[in-house]
Amino acid sequence: MKIILGADHGGFETKEKIKEYLLANNFEIIDAGNLVYDAKDDYPDFAIAVAKRITANEAEKGIIVCGSGVGACIAANKVKSVRACVCHDVYSAHQGVEHDDMNVLCLGGRIIGIETAKEIVHAFANAKFSNEDRHKRRLEKVLALEK
Ligand code: RB5
Repeated sequence: MKIILGADHGGFETKEKIKEYLLANNFEIIDAGNLVYDAKDDYPDFAIAVAKRITANEAEKGIIVCGSGVGACIAANKVKSVRACVCHDVYSAHQGVEHDDMNVLCLGGRIIGIETAKEIVHAFANAKFSNEDRHKRRLEKVLALEK
């Protein structure tokens, strides 16, 4: 599976470590930046870049890291067909995919440590939408808002 990553300065270090972790676990990666640490960069630039490339089917899933995960999540959810959420626990990270077809995980680099982040990323990256009728029905109701 291909996963696209993005981060501002608040999430840069965490994003770099997540990239190493995913590559070591045989995932394909696209890095949508920032590619260098820049204390003055803005999270929407990277969140929107990741979200647009998900919509363009360049990758199945995305992970965006900012300081809290919140700004990245707000920005990414403005892009059609993106379902992003901040998950700082393992259960939400896989259940969000299984029930809600979440396709972008947002993390706060200032909130969680890297070992917790890796477990959350593992849960998110390996989860699949359940395709159960009740979840499809609920998702359709959400997708209807985009039409
Ligand atoms: C940047 O300082 C910080 O505001 C940003 O990374 C993020 O936490 C926004 O939600």
